Amino acid sequence: MTTTKREAVSAILDPDPTKVFFAMRNAHSYYGESYIVQGVSLDVRQGEIVALLGRNGAGKTSTLRTIARLDNPELKQGEIWLEGKPIHTMAAWQASRAGIQLVPEDRRIIPGLSVEENLILAQVAPDQGWSLEEIYEHFPRLAERRKQEGVTLSGGEQQMLAVARALARNVKLLLLDEPYEGLAPVIVREIEKIVQDIRARGITTIIVEQNAVAALRMSDRAVILDTGELVWAGSAQELLDNERLRKEYLAL
Ligand SMILES: Nc1ncnc2c1ncn2[C@@H]1O[C@H](COP(=O)(O)OP(=O)(O)O)[C@@H](O)[C@H]1O
Ligand SMILES: [Mg+2]
Repeated sequence: MTTTKREAVSAILDPDPTKVFFAMRNAHSYYGESYIVQGVSLDVRQGEIVALLGRNGAGKTSTLRTIARLDNPELKQGEIWLEGKPIHTMAAWQASRAGIQLVPEDRRIIPGLSVEENLILAQVAPDQGWSLEEIYEHFPRLAERRKQEGVTLSGGEQQMLAVARALARNVKLLLLDEPYEGLAPVIVREIEKIVQDIRARGITTIIVEQNAVAALRMSDRAVILDTGELVWAGSAQELLDNERLRKEYLAL
């Protein structure tokens, strides 16, 4: 009997997705007629950092957008569960309220607003998320620049602001789309440290990165997407040690 790669990956899923911290089951999503996310299933435990990797165009951003319940791509089949709550039945704003925060690749800092105003605007629900004091404690660079217009920050600082804004909301599952893009190695290290810090506070992260080595350095586990399908799952170390996988899917 032969097993497909997808079956091999599925074998490690919990039989009850409502009992796992975060679970995606057989998710299929579409941009109009374009079938992109093709049956992705994934379990994430609380406090884990999971690297979602794969070549350009593999469907990583689309998978994150599907989890965040954005309108496009449209989830047409499958289930998404966070702490037993059915995210697949929710609109984007409800998923955000339930604790799923997407930090998109382009960061979306609001022009014309200071760092602090960007943060205050993110505090949509009272008594949820981190206070400004807590944020500034973890992001001293943002504290120093609180009055500066957000879009005039450096790339690294804008990325910090984008992450901080997610923390100002109720964040349980943080979805980072290529947070290191265009950043110098020393800034990458700083952001890595922030993600590890917030993990120590119980926050779970799925990170998509072209810089797979940097992502794997701080990840517990990795999954690989290829043309919208999950083709491999394992520990970060296993992937770093596997030359065939690195060459085939990560161009490393
Ligand atoms: N808005 C869109 N409309 C139609 N197709 C899209 C759209 N965005 C992305 N795609 C397609 O979906 C596939 C996956 O894209 P994406 O999720 O951005 O990949 P990745 O983030 O892994 O580079 C690609 O073939 C891309 O061309
Ligand atoms: Mg992408």
